[in-house]
Amino acid sequence: MAEASGTRKLLELKKERVSDKLDHSSVISGEQRWVDPGQELRYSAETQDEAYQAGAYDVIESLDFSARIAVQAGYVIHQRAQSVLDIGCGTGELLKYLNPNIRYVGMDISPTAIAIATQRYSNYPHAEFFASDFRRWDSPDDEYDCIVWAGIGRTWTRGGRKGDKRDWLNILLSLNRYLARDGVIIIEATKDHWPKLSKLIAADYAVLAGNDIDCLVNDHRAVRSTRVIQPRNMQT
Ligand SMILES: C[S@@+](CC[C@H](N)C(=O)[O-])C[C@H]1O[C@@H](n2cnc3c(N)ncnc32)[C@H](O)[C@@H]1O
Repeated sequence: MAEASGTRKLLELKKERVSDKLDHSSVISGEQRWVDPGQELRYSAETQDEAYQAGAYDVIESLDFSARIAVQAGYVIHQRAQSVLDIGCGTGELLKYLNPNIRYVGMDISPTAIAIATQRYSNYPHAEFFASDFRRWDSPDDEYDCIVWAGIGRTWTRGGRKGDKRDWLNILLSLNRYLARDGVIIIEATKDHWPKLSKLIAADYAVLAGNDIDCLVNDHRAVRSTRVIQPRNMQT
């Protein structure tokens, strides 16, 4: 009897949680209706730092979005990766889910995000962070067991909002040089971007695993597609 009422309460709580999407967004935005504090700022590489300062990426550290980061970390752990390169790592949220002794290199164009990450993970002995534009960056290590590139969107095209999505493939191909033998790349985009990304990479990469998850936030970023991929020319 007590168990049944406990289950009922849990179900009620879950219902509230889902129907409360707008209220939850208000926690992030300070508005009743979802108003992203910096949506436009997220669309170009030049304004990423401002985007962090405006709080446009705060959602990444929310309870809702913890699920998507946990998914990325799950793949890293399954691969028994000893080393991870995180492209566009933001505040290094992924590292929170990994073994503190892992070799982790995070890079991001936003000095604000990198300053937070550097401070937050200062006690991780093998973690390093770099503030740089990926297109002008050289990695300190030659190769990694896993490369993570999550949050692929317009920002990553040279033209920003109206940019050419084929730029995504160029970035991906340039990551191959850092991939250890049998290493994998974990990519993630919002579900609406995935069909285009999927077509772009089909000839060069095999998809080994993946999933789509809905983080239930009332925002276009809520449903995320994550895939584990490998360059076809590396497959034996
Ligand atoms: C949507 S956020 C994703 C952050 C984190 N990877 C995640 O999945 O939660 C995109 C990130 O890419 C970074 N970024 C965008 N263009 C970049 C570039 N050219 N070089 C390095 N980082 C870049 C942004 O500053 C931002 O932190």
